[in-house]
Amino acid sequence: MAILSGSGRVAGIVGWPVTHSRSPRLHGFWLDRHAIDGAYVPLAVRPEQFATAIRGLVAAGFAGCNVTAPHKLSAFEICDAVDESAHRAGAVNTLVFSDGRITGSNTDGYGFLANLRAHGIEVMDGPALVLGAGGAARAVAAALLGAGIDVTIANRTRAKAEALARDLPGLRIVDWQHRGTALADQALVVNTTSLGMSGHDPLGLDLSQAPDKLVVADIVYVPLETPLLAAARGRGLRAVEGLGMLLHQAVPGFHAWFGVRPQVDEELRRFVAAGLIAQ
Ligand code: ATR
Repeated sequence: MAILSGSGRVAGIVGWPVTHSRSPRLHGFWLDRHAIDGAYVPLAVRPEQFATAIRGLVAAGFAGCNVTAPHKLSAFEICDAVDESAHRAGAVNTLVFSDGRITGSNTDGYGFLANLRAHGIEVMDGPALVLGAGGAARAVAAALLGAGIDVTIANRTRAKAEALARDLPGLRIVDWQHRGTALADQALVVNTTSLGMSGHDPLGLDLSQAPDKLVVADIVYVPLETPLLAAARGRGLRAVEGLGMLLHQAVPGFHAWFGVRPQVDEELRRFVAAGLIAQ
């Protein structure tokens, strides 16, 4: 770990719990790589203490912080200003503190699109199907719609998909049981549900109707290769793993707090992936 000076810049991640977070390892790698006089720390904050803790970080001179579950909506509310990405996602995961003011953004959608681009995938190639209707689905669907893509959503509980469609004009809905047949018209399918995660059931998705050009993306990254991605590769489809989204969503925050725009590369990917295996 780098030795801090008295003018070191400090950021961190606020969550409850926060022990599972990969962000300290990820930001720590970049701080080390760039020999930055700074630190990024895990901050376990109970929901009822969120506003007090954030005001405390501002008062203590933090450069800002990431916010994870269950605080992403409270983070939206505490901001003095939020950008377009936060408005679209209805939630905030990145706070920047400047002159006592709190500015919020949501970099999940950016991270998702940047990861696709890093895989050489241009999302303008066609329509997309998003599976799930939680916070991650909302950020991904909003980013895709913002990029001018036709987006359809399928969720086990249809009412949640309908609620999302009310907030995101243009979003179409298909029944959960028709997700396999809906693939025929898509260029991209994204799993944002918890299915396929270690300890959860796999996502049952029949790929027999999938066109050969279909790109299959998962935002689950434990395991790195989910059963969905393995099935896609088995069928010769392009598969995009979820870890890349986590790495890319961290770039704008690091840049804002520490003044360096960091790279997502294979060395970083391996370093963060090794941390997942060790846990
Ligand atoms: P996040 O905010 O991280 O996206 P979430 O709000 O808990 O997480 O959302 C989890 C998603 O996984 C939801 O879309 C959920 O579907 P429901 O809205 O029907 O609950 C989906 N999900 C979880 N378990 C599922 C299962 N066994 N089958 C289908 N979908 C499931």
